[in-house]
Amino acid sequence: MHLSTLLLSTLPLALSHPNHAPFEPSPPPTETTTPSLSLEFTSDTAFTTALLNSTNTFRRAHNAPAVVYNTTLSAFAASYLDTTNPACAFRHSGGPYGENIALGCADARGCVELWGEERGAYDFGAPGFADGTGHFTQLVWKATTDVGCARRWCGDTRGWFLVCEYWPRGNVLGLFGEQVQAAESGVGRREGVWWLGLLVWLVVWF
Ligand SMILES: *[C@@H]1O[C@H](CO)[C@@H](O)[C@H](O)[C@H]1NC(C)=O
Ligand SMILES: *[C@@H]1O[C@H](CO)[C@@H](O)[C@H](O)[C@H]1NC(C)=O
Repeated sequence: MHLSTLLLSTLPLALSHPNHAPFEPSPPPTETTTPSLSLEFTSDTAFTTALLNSTNTFRRAHNAPAVVYNTTLSAFAASYLDTTNPACAFRHSGGPYGENIALGCADARGCVELWGEERGAYDFGAPGFADGTGHFTQLVWKATTDVGCARRWCGDTRGWFLVCEYWPRGNVLGLFGEQVQAAESGVGRREGVWWLGLLVWLVVWF
């Protein structure tokens, strides 16, 4: 995992989000992977397959129907990264879709798993948007049917910038109880997810 610049962000709908910059991560531990070599980032087919498989694995576990890959969404994400934000500023597009972003993951599946494993911190008994679980709730939001993602190489220090768009968008305030379901017993509550908190700089703008 590429840890030096790992940043994640997601947005709730109907909350204002101040336009502040995410804090800078601390210096990295030893790197074990070179992100630029990840097939999941360099091959379009591997990228799409990894994202869909990983996304739908989490959705299946939380009783949400599988999403399909939508090129309107992926084209929007690509346009944002390559045209609107080519300098890789870590911020959201402000577009009409649900959006999870991450910077510095080693591969596409790894990004989705970091988002999904936030479920270990989600309180299904008190549904709602919370810092640190917003990627997960968007990922498994039942009413979302389509996903589309793009990535941009932001240099050796920062790694890959991944942007995923979701439609219809999730994280709609007031609907978390019906839209985010607990996993079947035995799934979704893994011991040891808390170590992620030590490794991941998590930024949720709200
Ligand atoms: C599909 O995604 C899940 C979750 O990320 C992962 O555990 C599994 O190995 C993936 N399967 C394939 C064939 O890549
Ligand atoms: C893809 O997403 C767009 C934007 O939300 C939507 O208008 C379109 O119907 C979707 N395409 C398909 C084939 O569902």
